[in-house]
Amino acid sequence: MSMVTLNEFIMERQADFPFASGDLSRLLADISIAAKIINHKVNKAGLQDILGAEGTTNVQGETQMKLDVFSDQALLNAVKWGGQVCGAGSEENEKYFAFDLEHCRKAKYVILFDPLDGSSNIDVNVSIGTIFSILRRTSAVGDLANINDFLQKGSEQVAAGYVIYGSSTMLVYTTGHGVNGFTLEPSIGEFCLSHANMHFPEHGNIYSINEGNMSICEKGVRDFVEWCKDIDKKTNRPFTARYIGSLVADFHRNLIKGGVYIYPGTKKNPEGKLRLQYECNPLAFIAEQAGGKASDGKNRIMELPPKELHQRTPLFIGSKHLVEKAEEFIQKNS
Ligand code: AHG
Ligand code: MN
Ligand code: MN
Repeated sequence: MSMVTLNEFIMERQADFPFASGDLSRLLADISIAAKIINHKVNKAGLQDILGAEGTTNVQGETQMKLDVFSDQALLNAVKWGGQVCGAGSEENEKYFAFDLEHCRKAKYVILFDPLDGSSNIDVNVSIGTIFSILRRTSAVGDLANINDFLQKGSEQVAAGYVIYGSSTMLVYTTGHGVNGFTLEPSIGEFCLSHANMHFPEHGNIYSINEGNMSICEKGVRDFVEWCKDIDKKTNRPFTARYIGSLVADFHRNLIKGGVYIYPGTKKNPEGKLRLQYECNPLAFIAEQAGGKASDGKNRIMELPPKELHQRTPLFIGSKHLVEKAEEFIQKNS
C-alpha cells in the first residue's frame, strides 16, 4: 500500500493554488511538529512527573494541568520560531501574544488554539486533543499583531484542525477544500493519510451531551434529548448516548459515526462553557466542510461576532439533520 505523509499531501495540495507562497503549508507543518512533541509527552504521562495539576489557574479560573502548560509552550514555540504567524492566542493565556521578531512581523497569519482539550481526562487515560484556528491578519504586514487580528468571525478562517491523542494519534484539518485525516505512524514518526475526504454519514444516531446538566438547561434542549430517546424508525431503537467529556474526541467520533454534540447554555452560564475562537469556530469549519453543521441553537457559529478573545458560546455541532432537529426544538420553545 502506498503511503502519503502529511507533508507530501500538503505539498501536493499547494500545487493546486498557483499563487500560494507556501506559508500556510509551512505553518501546518510547524503545528504537526508541536503535535508530535505533545503526543510524545501524552504517551508517557504516567511515567514522567507530568500528571496532575500545575498549581496555577488560567484566565477562566480553571485549574491548569501540567500537560496544559506543556502543550501551550510546545505550540507557542513551534509557531513562533517557524515564523509564519505574527501572533498567537491561547486558552491558557489571558492576552494574545504579538511576536516581536522580524520574521514574525512579516508573517501573514495569526493562530488561535486550545493546546490541550479535555484536561479533566488526562489523569484517567482517556482521549484528549488539541484544536487550532488560522486567520489571515487584518493588521498591516510589518506591524505587531493587534487584538482585531484575533477577533474575526469563524467564516474568515483560512485553515483549522485538531489533533486527537487517542488509541492512535490523528491530525484532521481543512483549508476549506474538504477535510482530511492523518494517523501518526509511530515507527516512522509521520502523520500518514488514513481518512481522505471525511464526511458525516447521512444518518447518525448518537447524541453527546452532559446529561448531568439537564435540569439547568432550557426546555428546547431537554425536549431534543427526550426526542433522541424515542424509538428511531430507521433503526427501531432509541439513539445512543456517548459523552467522553473531551470535545475533540466526542466530535471526532460523531464525525466518523454520525451524531450531534451539544454544550448548551445553562441557567448559571447562558453562554455555555466552550470558547468561540479556539474551540467552536475551528470545529465548525471542519463540520461544515464535512457536510455537517454548527450553531449556537439559533445562529451559525461561524457568523457570531467575536468581542473578546475568550468569548463563550453554546454549541450544537455534528450531522446536519440532527443539528437542525435540535434547532427546531429550541425555536419551538423560545
Ligand atoms: P478544556 O479541557 O480545554 O478546558 O475543555 C474541556 C471542555 C470540552 O473538552 C468538553 O467537551 C467539556 O469541557 C466538558 O465539560 P463538562 O465536564 O462540563 O461536561
Ligand atoms: Mn477545550
Ligand atoms: Mn484546554
